Amino acid sequence: MAKETVTIIDNVTGKSIELPLRTGTIGPPAIDITTLYKKLGYFTYDPGFMATASCRSNITYIDGDKGVLLYRGYPIEQLAGKSTFLEVAYLLLYGDLPTRPRLDEFTKVISRHTMINESLKNFYSGFYHDAHPMASMVGVVGSLSAFYHDSTDIHDPKHRDIAAHRMIAKMPTIAGASYKHSIGEPFVYPKNSLSYCANLLHMMFSVPSEEYQIDAVAEQALDLIFILHVDHEQNASTSTVRLAGSSGANPFACISSGITALWGPAHGGANEAVLLMLEEIGDAKEIPKYIAKAKDKDDPFRLMGFGHRIYKNYDPRARIIREMCHRVLKRLGDENDPFFELALKLEELALQDDYFIERKLYPNVDFYSGIIYKVLGIPTNMFTVMFAIARTAGWVAQWTEMIAEPDQRIARPRQVYDGSPERDYVPIELRK
Ligand code: SDX
Repeated sequence: MAKETVTIIDNVTGKSIELPLRTGTIGPPAIDITTLYKKLGYFTYDPGFMATASCRSNITYIDGDKGVLLYRGYPIEQLAGKSTFLEVAYLLLYGDLPTRPRLDEFTKVISRHTMINESLKNFYSGFYHDAHPMASMVGVVGSLSAFYHDSTDIHDPKHRDIAAHRMIAKMPTIAGASYKHSIGEPFVYPKNSLSYCANLLHMMFSVPSEEYQIDAVAEQALDLIFILHVDHEQNASTSTVRLAGSSGANPFACISSGITALWGPAHGGANEAVLLMLEEIGDAKEIPKYIAKAKDKDDPFRLMGFGHRIYKNYDPRARIIREMCHRVLKRLGDENDPFFELALKLEELALQDDYFIERKLYPNVDFYSGIIYKVLGIPTNMFTVMFAIARTAGWVAQWTEMIAEPDQRIARPRQVYDGSPERDYVPIELRK
């Protein structure tokens, strides 16, 4: 079929050029601008990448207007209702749902990499006890690049695979150790007879002095939340991992850069910010005051957990988490949990307000997740750590896809320069 193109007419020079369209399986086509500068001498300008495709990918598809999220073509609603986190991690890494023997093998491989090098425990002692667990996680994950010299050839598929397995496997152990260090309790080794999420709960909450009973509802709730957080196309942290990885950097160091980007309150740090915001609002009668602050251009306050760059409809993940909130509160908490009541009231009042309606600002995945984490006994400063554990499977899948691209090259954006034109150096004695 003749390649579809768009015509760009340059009204400055009168020149016009044809640029090819890149069409994917579903979703809007993209104008291929790789020859634009050569043909017309122009860059494109898109700070925040509002309308820029940085890559092709087969992993995740989002339709923000319809509230659609597909992992390798499977709707998030179906995976949330029928799959498990490790099965979804396999799906993202290898492109298809595993057979039972393949899933058992993958689960065994992941469980065999849950321990971290014993010397890494000393790394934690360098952090003061009140270090934010995200700070220690960034540091410890980055330091994994000082180990595993047996698999540093990122162009060897086997090396990429074992790096991915190690990263997915070790995140709960690193998170558990970050938490234990912050509360001054002894680290807990992983127990490989437990499921991925049960092991995380075990490493966070068990103590040597007594038996720890895993709560099945808590284990299922975590597994579901992790499925909802595992990947999300080219979001800020995934794009950071891709950009760092495009230079050929060590995969563990790339994941550490992703954790750094995720930490921001505009991104994965929002789940912690939502709980802090609900604590600050405190009472439903204060909600109108905070909605007014969120609308006030002169006030930096934003309703955390609301809005999304892509979802201009309800975030499908938020809908699923909201329903799960009810279930978890019924089984583990207080159905009249004040934070949940406040969140529901805040959502109701915000969604009646023209400011939010006009800007299509709906609750996103971070709006309700913190309430569930709180009921599970997870402290607020560990909420984004939970997000990082889940998103690691998505990050390594996206990193693997990028490195395996035959024409993979370093990412190097350009700019529009607003600085000083060329000028000569002025000796200090002549400066005013
Ligand atoms: C995640 O990219 C991903 O996929 C991310 C994520 C993933 O899975 O990886 O989905 C996870 O990061 C979810 C988002 C979590 N962040 C928050 O909840 C923080 C609060 N939300 C905002 O900061 C904001 O909505 C963003 C950052 C999420 C999106 O910002 P955009 O797309 O750059 O939108 P914008 O800042 O240009 O806002 C458009 C308008 C502005 O008003 P006007 O200039 O048009 O008058 O909406 C307003 C904004 O002021 N606005 C808000 C608001 N979010 C946007 N006003 C009040 N409260 C808010 N939360």
